[in-house]
Amino acid sequence: MIEETIKQKRTIRLFKQDKIDYKLLEKFVDCARLSSSARNAQPLEYIIVDDKEVLEKIFPLINFGGEISDDKKAKNGFEPTALIVIIAKKGCRESYKYDIGIAAQNIALVAYENNIGVCMMGAVEKEEIQKALNVPDDYFVDFVISLGYAAEKPVLEETDKEPGYYRENNVLHVQKRKLSQVLHRNKF
Ligand SMILES: Cc1cc2nc3c(=O)[nH]c(=O)nc-3n(C[C@H](O)[C@H](O)[C@H](O)COP(=O)(O)O)c2cc1C
Repeated sequence: MIEETIKQKRTIRLFKQDKIDYKLLEKFVDCARLSSSARNAQPLEYIIVDDKEVLEKIFPLINFGGEISDDKKAKNGFEPTALIVIIAKKGCRESYKYDIGIAAQNIALVAYENNIGVCMMGAVEKEEIQKALNVPDDYFVDFVISLGYAAEKPVLEETDKEPGYYRENNVLHVQKRKLSQVLHRNKF
């Protein structure tokens, strides 16, 4: 059920070290490929990274939320076991950002339904990743999705205050603004 999945699925930043079957990763990209796209231009392409050596080259170039560790790097022994790097053709329309959001969410939802946790990552060293993965000059790296079997179970809480997330007793708490704060009817 999509509604239940949306309510339950949280960002995961601690992963078990079991490998994800490549066929499964391919399926996630296939679901991204079928996403809605402005003007149906489909400017996005995807690089699956699941080789240990390549992963280790990329880990220093991605930044997990500050709750994970002081240096914002993946926690030793809990690193993602795969990455999906989203690239776009240079010169594409500004709307590619919306396309990325939709594609990333499709990946996240289908991953969750296959028991895989993800962390969407915008805080990444795009140019360095481009070099490390031999991405040609007529493309640019924009977004990274970290994936793996979840080694944590974050909890959701509602807040009236500025939302954020924090770790307490090793449990990640994710705060969401209340429906009454974000919903308007007919006028603001
Ligand atoms: C566009 C976007 C960029 C994000 N970039 C990062 C990132 O670079 N590092 C990270 O650890 N989390 C990143 N996140 C994950 C958010 O921190 C996370 O979605 C937020 O804390 C809410 O948690 P939830 O996804 O469990 O609802 C990103 C999420 C989005 C939508």
